[in-house]
Amino acid sequence: MEIVGEPMAEKVTVSVIKADVGSVCGHTRPHPSMIKECDRILKDGVKQGILQDYYVTRVGDDINLFMTHYKGEDNRDVHELAWNAFYEAARIARKMHLYGAGQDLLADSFSGNIKGAGPGSAEISFEERKSEPMMFFMADKTEPSAYSLPLSRIFMDPFTTTGLVIDVRAKKGFDFEIHDVMNRKKTVMSAPEESWNILSLLGDTSRYAIKRVFSRAGIGTVAVVSTDKLNFTAGRYVGKDDPVCVVRAQSGLPSVGEYLQPFMNTMLVAGWMRGSHYGAFFPCSPERSDPTYFDGPPRICCLGFQLCDGKLQGLEPADPTPGMHKPIDYFAGSEWNFARMNAIKASRFIRSHGPFMPAILGPEEMEYTSKPEVLKELEKRLEDLD
Ligand code: F6R
Ligand code: MG
Ligand code: MG
Repeated sequence: MEIVGEPMAEKVTVSVIKADVGSVCGHTRPHPSMIKECDRILKDGVKQGILQDYYVTRVGDDINLFMTHYKGEDNRDVHELAWNAFYEAARIARKMHLYGAGQDLLADSFSGNIKGAGPGSAEISFEERKSEPMMFFMADKTEPSAYSLPLSRIFMDPFTTTGLVIDVRAKKGFDFEIHDVMNRKKTVMSAPEESWNILSLLGDTSRYAIKRVFSRAGIGTVAVVSTDKLNFTAGRYVGKDDPVCVVRAQSGLPSVGEYLQPFMNTMLVAGWMRGSHYGAFFPCSPERSDPTYFDGPPRICCLGFQLCDGKLQGLEPADPTPGMHKPIDYFAGSEWNFARMNAIKASRFIRSHGPFMPAILGPEEMEYTSKPEVLKELEKRLEDLD
């Protein structure tokens, strides 16, 4: 017997794909003509009916493509569009002899999925609610586990998210998909019941990272992080992962303000300078995301849009015009000067240790190291201790 029920609503997918394909003056900022070229290609993707809407932005030396569509995650056409945008931007970078031109494009050509080809991706699919506030966090000079501390606070700490106590849907808790990025394993754990076990894993930022967060009140996937490890994919040091994190907010989920709250506290993240140092997260506008002090400190930006029938509704223009909407820029304002000042203070402090731990990462995490060479040179001079 055929069961006739409510028709399933079509799921919208928000895909953020990012890559560093070259920048002006070292690892600082992509040339505006590269951004323009990405914009042209994604606009064409809307015309072809692949995308509903898009937004092109950057953090430091990384170009970030926000794309909305109804084609689901891992869609060939969507990934190919992103690949083509980065490919053409890299071509411009090469012509200008920009630094690191084509750096994150590890494959010679597109072969069906952007995963494993270099760029990082975070994709989230869900039934669009009547009103759907979305926030896009973008980081530079750091790695996916940099989001573990703020997301733990947001989804597990009632002293950060009061909604975990006083909002009946948020109070049902959240499930975490946690990845062991080294061994390529994953598991799902539930908060609040397993909070301390979750933290026992996530505290090891060298190995574990949050990939997805799910509502236990039936709202679906709430957050997704790009956990691609560029250097594992390449098998050598290429550049930092510089991850993105896309989240849905409000109405049974953390509010916009609760998502922002942890970033007022200064936190150290790994990946600064040669992917080998700790530095403090510096919250800022994409406009202020040029790494200007010791190639950093690691930047974190946050942009906000509403979804409107699969399109990105920002501040202007009033009507939905694909590619034309301007987001809210959360970390642009002077109230974040306090966090920025503390980030510089903390970064200066840790810098004062120079090439000593804990300024540099542990030996297994250093992305640049001369130690094997030094040890080889010393081979004949090494003696046993008494
Ligand atoms: C790149 C980055 C930089 C570089 C550093 C050395 O995103 O984080 O700190 O790692 O400038 O770069 P190379 O080896 O290219 O001279
Ligand atoms: Mg770079
Ligand atoms: Mg970068």
